[in-house]
Amino acid sequence: MPWILDTDPGVDDAAALIAAERLSLGLTAITVVHGNVPLQNTVANTLRLKQLLGSPLPVYPGAERPLLQEPCHAWEVHGRDGLGDQEWPKLTVHAEQQHAALHIIDAAHRFGGALKILAVGPLTNIALALRLEPKLPDLVQRLVVMGGTHSGRGNTSMVGEFNFYADPEAAAMVLAAGWKIQLIPWEPTLENLVPVDMLPAPGADPVSDAFRRISAHLVRRVKERTGVEGLLMCDFAALGAALDPSIGATQELYGAVETEGRYSRGLLALDYAGCSGQEPNLSVYTQFDRGRLTALFAEAFAKE
Ligand code: RIB
Ligand code: CA
Repeated sequence: MPWILDTDPGVDDAAALIAAERLSLGLTAITVVHGNVPLQNTVANTLRLKQLLGSPLPVYPGAERPLLQEPCHAWEVHGRDGLGDQEWPKLTVHAEQQHAALHIIDAAHRFGGALKILAVGPLTNIALALRLEPKLPDLVQRLVVMGGTHSGRGNTSMVGEFNFYADPEAAAMVLAAGWKIQLIPWEPTLENLVPVDMLPAPGADPVSDAFRRISAHLVRRVKERTGVEGLLMCDFAALGAALDPSIGATQELYGAVETEGRYSRGLLALDYAGCSGQEPNLSVYTQFDRGRLTALFAEAFAKE
């Protein structure tokens, strides 16, 4: 307690939010960022999920675009609306007026160093909060980030993972801010797809039914691209690491994000050989305990 989820829903973001609520992570607010789809869609999707869950959590809209570059999105993965292009009931809940970055700063001061942040989208809101409050790293007890790669295997460019590639300047600033980050990179999440039959049978409960519907598009796309059937749950894995840091194996490494380079922009450069002389700023998950990850998924989605 207390956590802020910074997110760009996104189907796997939806899994992380549902699980955070159902497994009692201890969320105090949700901050929203551009990413998988434009901000107006990620905010609408967050409100849809809030309404679906019957959650009282406040939702704070944040950055509409990256710090420097043009926005990029992942429509082909998450659908045009970002949640698999399904029908939703009319929204009756609303977002807050305060900007996400300002809320993060207020919450950091209010909780006096106990605030924890789970960031599963481009890091623009966190970077803006850092620029406005340089003491933020001293006021945040834990920062868990889904982003980057541990071996340069990109999913959006040859070496760029989406969250870092969508705002490399923000990612570079966040990694260089002086805090120790628990980092869940792309490769171990791709190696640990959650079996589709982990979802309860239709009719089990309205939340799991809705998730089954919104995830169908993602399952099809992953099968087309990898030949493997399963739920690609990157952000859910990050939630797992937030709940239980021992859910996978980690390596303590120094890392920095490339913002130059025709081929390398957005790359997470990791210092495996200790060449930089820098102290580690990352605890990088190199693998997950698949059994524990799928058991956590079952606990979150089989719950009434
Ligand atoms: O590369 C995967 C990440 O990019 C996930 O957070 C997914 O939701 C997208 O934001
Ligand atoms: Ca995401």
